[in-house]
Order: sequence, then C-alpha cells, then structure tokens
Amino acid sequence: MCLFCGSFFYQKAKLCYYHIMKNPFDILEQNSLNFKLTPISFREIFFISESPCDVYGQVDGLFKIVLFKKAEISNAILKDLLHKKLANLFVMEDDRFQLRIAQQENLRNVTRSLSIGDPLEKARLQTNLLTLNLNYLYEDPTDDNLLNLQVQSAKNLATFLYNKPQIHEALYKEFIKQGHHYIFAQPFLSTLFLIGVMKNSRMYIDKDIELFFLTSYFKDIGMSAIPVEKYNQDYLDDEDKKLLASHPQLSVNILKGRLPLPPNHLRIIENHHIYSTLTQRLNLADKDDPSTIFGFETMMISVMDTVAAMTTDRPFRKAESLFKSLDLIRLLIGEQYPQEFKLIVFYFKNFFKSV
Ligand SMILES: [Fe+2]
Repeated sequence: MCLFCGSFFYQKAKLCYYHIMKNPFDILEQNSLNFKLTPISFREIFFISESPCDVYGQVDGLFKIVLFKKAEISNAILKDLLHKKLANLFVMEDDRFQLRIAQQENLRNVTRSLSIGDPLEKARLQTNLLTLNLNYLYEDPTDDNLLNLQVQSAKNLATFLYNKPQIHEALYKEFIKQGHHYIFAQPFLSTLFLIGVMKNSRMYIDKDIELFFLTSYFKDIGMSAIPVEKYNQDYLDDEDKKLLASHPQLSVNILKGRLPLPPNHLRIIENHHIYSTLTQRLNLADKDDPSTIFGFETMMISVMDTVAAMTTDRPFRKAESLFKSLDLIRLLIGEQYPQEFKLIVFYFKNFFKSV
C-alpha cells in the first residue's frame, strides 16, 4: 500500500506509481546515478514475478525508481510501464547479477518441467528464456555455469521439438513476435529449421538430433567478441570485420573442451560459413564443391543458417522472400545435392505456407 495515498498498485514498493514519480532524486544523486546505473533490456523483467532489485526508468531525463526491490511484476505492470513510455530501464551495476540469477533460475525451472503442460506454451517460454540467457552468455562466454545451463536446456529442447513437429510453425511465429535482437534469435531460428528438415528426412536418430542441435545453436558464440550495438550499424571498421570473419574459429576456441561435442562437430562449426562466404564470390562456372571437403552435415547447417538469416529482418535491411532464399540455395547445392535440395524446398514450402 502506498505510504502517501494508500493505493495498492505498488504495494511492495511502499509507494504508488504517482508518488514514485513525485519523488525524484536530487541533482547530486542524479549525477552519481549516471555512473552507477547500467541499462537493461525491457525483456529482462519478463517472466519474473517480483523484481530482484530496484529498477530505474528515466522521466524527462531524470532517473526514478519504477520498480522497487521485491515489487510485484505482473502483465498489468509491464503494460503500464510501456504505456508510460518507461521501456528504457536501468539497474545498479552491482545489482545486474541478481537479474541474471533470477532469469537463470527461470530457465532451469522451465527446462525441468518442459514436458508438463501445453507443449506450445512451454516451448514458447523455454525458447524465450533460452534466448534471453544466451544474451548473458555472450556478455561472458567464459562463464561455465551459463554455458552448462544453456547446454542442458538446448538438449531438452532438441528432443522435445524433434518429437513435436506439429508445433514448429506456431512456435516460429511466437518467437518472431518477441523481437529478440537478431544476434540472439538467429541461433534458435536456424536450429529450428535444421531440426524440421532432419525430422522430414527420417535419416537421424535421437543422439544425432541432440548433437546437431547443439552444433547449430552454439556455432555463432564467437560473435560475442563484437559488442551487440555494432551489429545494428551498416558500417563496421576493418578491425570489427576481421573479428566478425573469425567468429567460426572463435566459437571453436570458446567451446573446445567445454561442450559435449565430438571433433567432427567442432569442424562443422569451424566451417559453417563455407556456403555463405561462397555467396559473395559465387562463380557458377567454378565446379569446386565445398561439400566434398567439408561434408554433408556442414552443408545442411550452413544452408539452414542462410535461409533463417535471409528470411528475417535486420536493422540495416528487410527480409528477403523465401523464393529468393531458396533460389540462392539452389545455386549453392542444387547440382551436388538434388535430392536434399528437393527435401529442403518441400520442407520450407510447407512450413511457410501457414506462417
Ligand atoms: Fe555464423
């Protein structure tokens, strides 16, 4: 209950929203907050029932607490914050880890109970939490706890999704709606397509599915070497471009000895851009086929990655049509893998028919 007016709205915060807004910090405090606060994404307060720390917003350029520690976080409160244009949130630098812990715990709980309840709802929650936590892992790719949690969750999700192809389309739509940054969305989207095609091909056993899911999902972790903001820019300097081009090797360096993958799967990660780099120097008269050097599985992961990237928006370009994406895939693999190309076309045409 608000100490000033008795409103129940922010009862655990002891103040209602109106009176929180009426009590700004003084100028000196405002200056010091500039140094102490760190921005968080609005989605970091999704899926938690109470705030693990004080959360700040900015009104007319001044920091104000919009959620006190232990304040209830309901859908109504989230909507209210958005309605009041308080989507840019901050927490004290020292408190950031508390949000991480809350969201890790969330992911752990959902992973444990993935098979209980409505499959689509559970998969939606699991994929959103997995992607949110991937963000934390990219901030610190050396953190074993974050990596192990991602691995365990990804393994459970692999088997779950392989056995439930009927929810893939709806899950894809739900996932796209969440508007995750493409750097964190791309690993799941490309892996969802991979699992779908593998299911359609009926050539794989459960153990393969888990390994290919992990390989595809973690292949881009080396991109964590570049700050996320840079991926929104049209222009990257030479140093950034060098780092970006080296991300497959960086991914291997980060994952080696830490992920339960056999050496040939690490080689797939190392070469997963062999087809997309070919698109930049595609010479159709050149019959040198990378698949003979890098293998069928590398081709599948690379191609699914390419379709997932081309068919989704980027901050600097709009999504391409499925037709254009498949046409590129035809140029890349149609001659060498005619049957597999047909399988891929069949899968995507069915998939996007209802998306
Ligand atoms: Fe990549």
